[in-house]
Amino acid sequence: MALGFGGDYNPEQWEPDVWAEDVRLMGEAGVNLVTVGVFAWAALQPEPGRYTFGWLDDVLGLLHGAGIGVALATPTASPPPWLGHRHPDTLPQGPDGVRRLYGSRNQYCPCAPAYRRAALAVTEALADRYAHHPALRLWHIGNEYGTACHCEHCARRFRGWLARRYGDLDGLNAAWGTAVWSQRYGDWAEVLPPRRVQYVINPLQDLDYQRFVSDALLECFAAERDAVRARNPAVPVTTNFMDFYRHTDGWRWAAEEDVVSLDTYPDPNDPGAALRGAMSKDVVRSLGGGRPWLLMEQSPGAASWRPVATPKRPGLNRLWSLQAVARGADAVLHFQWRASRQGAERAHGAMVPHAGPGSRVFREICELGRELAELSGVEGTTVAADVAIVLDWDAWRAVELDHQPHEGFRYVDRLTDYYAPLWRANITCDFAPAAGALGRYRLVLVPNLYQVAPDAAANLAAYVAGGGTLVMGPFSGVADPAERIYTGGWPGPLREVFGVRVEEHWPVLTPLDVASAALGDFTASMWGEWAEASGADVVAAYRGGPLDGRPAILRHRYGGGTAWYVTTLPEPDALARLLARVCADAGVEPVVAGLPPGVEAVRRGDRVFLLDHR
Ligand code: GAL
Repeated sequence: MALGFGGDYNPEQWEPDVWAEDVRLMGEAGVNLVTVGVFAWAALQPEPGRYTFGWLDDVLGLLHGAGIGVALATPTASPPPWLGHRHPDTLPQGPDGVRRLYGSRNQYCPCAPAYRRAALAVTEALADRYAHHPALRLWHIGNEYGTACHCEHCARRFRGWLARRYGDLDGLNAAWGTAVWSQRYGDWAEVLPPRRVQYVINPLQDLDYQRFVSDALLECFAAERDAVRARNPAVPVTTNFMDFYRHTDGWRWAAEEDVVSLDTYPDPNDPGAALRGAMSKDVVRSLGGGRPWLLMEQSPGAASWRPVATPKRPGLNRLWSLQAVARGADAVLHFQWRASRQGAERAHGAMVPHAGPGSRVFREICELGRELAELSGVEGTTVAADVAIVLDWDAWRAVELDHQPHEGFRYVDRLTDYYAPLWRANITCDFAPAAGALGRYRLVLVPNLYQVAPDAAANLAAYVAGGGTLVMGPFSGVADPAERIYTGGWPGPLREVFGVRVEEHWPVLTPLDVASAALGDFTASMWGEWAEASGADVVAAYRGGPLDGRPAILRHRYGGGTAWYVTTLPEPDALARLLARVCADAGVEPVVAGLPPGVEAVRRGDRVFLLDHR
């Protein structure tokens, strides 16, 4: 097997004479894998009960004849108008009670029985026909799962989900804290998804609904996966994740897939794009347990949904593609093969742009195809990391609920704070769940863990006690999974590990001054804490202002390891100095030391990739 190379192919948008040219050009470009049928439901089933597979037979035959493999998609992300027209209850309802109609895409309610039946039927028909097709390499289920709905079907299933979680109404009332504001439920029929309310919604109702929606979508995915697997268990199954998407819990989802895949669209205008791209790629590799993953989509040029859709400058698609390979991808695919002439994405970049094959973009695509073919031997190899960053969907969702102390405190920004200095230093990171296996890492970073479950806290404590080094950022260990605040000081169940007790969270509008002999003085922003050391050494302390003299950064020996607690958001240089110090103490080394800023180094298998972002 070579590295996969190709993109989304939507032949239903074109006449058959274009297909022949497509396959010829794919050969020229070295394309060996295309995703077919993502949005082809109406073309495959123009009306209930009638399937029109002839065109897809022809397309798959042409591709197979040219030696091109297919990731065959179930088309269930975009039901045809007939479904919504006949079954309006399959259309998603917003929290405002208004239904979202057809005329776009993604218009389905994951809980509507008619949607689930129709999605399964088209999936079964597709799998009956193609599960043993010689071109088939992979099943691509749905597309970028993420649609939320708040309708009555969802309400009913949500109640069932809650009953399984909390037992009975007493359990629900206790968990949701319905004694506050007279929210007590006396009948399951009263319990609703978060819809439009007069003032701020119950926080656990909001959080539980986010958990529920992720699970409901996962049921849709699993039903389709099981249908295709039943017809040929040898074909692997994936669905494409988006960059940092809060609404589907990546750890739970990845566990249900044979191989994970990523759609990533860093903004060419963003000076931090290379860093953010690297981070997304490290996340998806980690979700897949470190095994090779697939770059399912990136744009060869512009992403038309951006307010300013600047194309990728010459060489940039190559650079970001190789970044994916370096960080563990076994395929580099694009959205899409041929630029659409019509429809919502007519201005989106493509491997064959509107200008045709005689274009800069297509020439670069052909060069990339050649280069990936020359990299053979990389596929199947893995990326080693000594550092893990804890990524936790519940903490993410909970820290961004309404009425938290600082609405600008965004979870992914906090992860980026810690990822960035390591990326700049060419230290490779994995991401890990808070309750996951951490023992093989020399260093674990927890930029934020606002909500922490007792088992996760015990896991982190055991990691430190066993000799690990842990660094935790502010506003951590605050609430339990039922969004109940831990009392007696923070970080709640981790106080002993860090030898610290936080009494008050202190979000601020103006920078804080911090004095540190060990790290050099620095400023910090957004967040402070009124803390006292209870066993930890104070490495940095606030100077002036309301927190004057209070500890800002603390270090604590705990069992055989070391736990650092950072009560604020240090300016980037200061955080880089802190992490450099921690890495040195923990024996964490860069892939290559001393490279100029802007040069990224990653080791995959026995190769080192040097990527020059300058
Ligand atoms: C993705 C999607 C593709 C295409 C692409 C455009 O979100 O999966 O179908 O719409 O964006 O950037």
